[in-house]
Amino acid sequence: EMKKVESKVGDRVGLPCCEIPSSRSLQNFRVYWQKTTREVVLAYDYGKKISQNDLYDNRTEMDDRNLTLWISPVQILDNGSYHCVVQHRKSLQDPVVLFCVGHVTLFVTADFSKPDVTAEISTNSCESTEMLVTCSSHGGFIKPKISGALNNKSMVWNSTWMSPSSLSMYNVTAKLWVSVTKDSSFTCSVEYNGVTKSTSLLLNKTSDCAVSAAPFSHNIITASSIVIVTFLLAVTLAVRYLPRH
Ligand SMILES: *[C@@H]1O[C@H](CO)[C@@H](O)[C@H](O)[C@H]1NC(C)=O
Ligand SMILES: *[C@@H]1O[C@H](CO)[C@@H](O)[C@H](O)[C@H]1NC(C)=O
Ligand SMILES: *[C@@H]1O[C@H](CO)[C@@H](O)[C@H](O)[C@H]1NC(C)=O
Ligand SMILES: *[C@@H]1O[C@H](CO)[C@@H](O)[C@H](O)[C@H]1NC(C)=O
Ligand SMILES: *[C@@H]1O[C@H](CO)[C@@H](O)[C@H](O)[C@H]1NC(C)=O
Ligand SMILES: *[C@@H]1O[C@H](CO)[C@@H](O)[C@H](O)[C@H]1NC(C)=O
Repeated sequence: EMKKVESKVGDRVGLPCCEIPSSRSLQNFRVYWQKTTREVVLAYDYGKKISQNDLYDNRTEMDDRNLTLWISPVQILDNGSYHCVVQHRKSLQDPVVLFCVGHVTLFVTADFSKPDVTAEISTNSCESTEMLVTCSSHGGFIKPKISGALNNKSMVWNSTWMSPSSLSMYNVTAKLWVSVTKDSSFTCSVEYNGVTKSTSLLLNKTSDCAVSAAPFSHNIITASSIVIVTFLLAVTLAVRYLPRH
């Protein structure tokens, strides 16, 4: 039977093994907690700790009764499969017999930070504002998917970077050039392990054209009005004087 345990980086997690009868004490048992069959994480020989592992000492302890291996704080390196092997002998003279073997897989995850979205304006014209949008998130595990949407329309990133090592956490940064013709909303989402974290940023179309256009059109209206009034006046005068001739 393969048990599954999930944990986040920094948490305390217990990996179950098997219970020892309440009539017996740890003195009657030899317990090996191993990772991926080779590495000994923690071992007790009839009540005495016999293992030494710099990666795990000070982060691990074992429950005397149910032999649960506690790890705190959990690190990404802890991800993997573990097993415990328990041997028993009634007394020093008795033969050693296998008591139980337990298998556990530990799945370690780490949360990404809420994405940080920034926009940098590059060019600005009456028609549109061009900007470079950057979205970044850090400290997560497993490898995430990053997506961007402008007014709910999904966009293709110009570039994305992901930190390389599979055993360290991931930092992700993505960049995109956008051209907006009106105030728009940009949303960046980071998706991992069934979790989605999103941040939206309002992209303002910053342009002066509308402001300078207003007095201009006002002048046109005034000029047109003068032309029309003059024309009407001319027609009126013409109508008055025409019958006399
Ligand atoms: C083992 O015992 C500890 C407390 O002594 C408890 O928190 C834990 O849930 C137990 N684990 C199992 C698998 O029984
Ligand atoms: C574990 O802790 C002890 C004392 O708290 C310290 O002396 C020792 O160096 C630590 N070991 C590791 C591997 O960090
Ligand atoms: C964590 O360990 C399990 C068991 O070995 C493995 O299946 C899984 O792919 C590992 N996860 C990552 C992200 O490496
Ligand atoms: C985007 O979609 C969400 C829900 O899917 C909706 O609430 C929101 O009004 C939409 N925004 C735009 C600009 O279409
Ligand atoms: C990347 O940006 C350039 C410059 O604005 C643009 O022309 C190009 O289409 C973009 N490429 C992708 C794949 O989005
Ligand atoms: C990931 O981001 C964190 C926080 O911004 C930073 O401290 C760390 O150096 C970054 N790691 C890499 C590999 O870029």
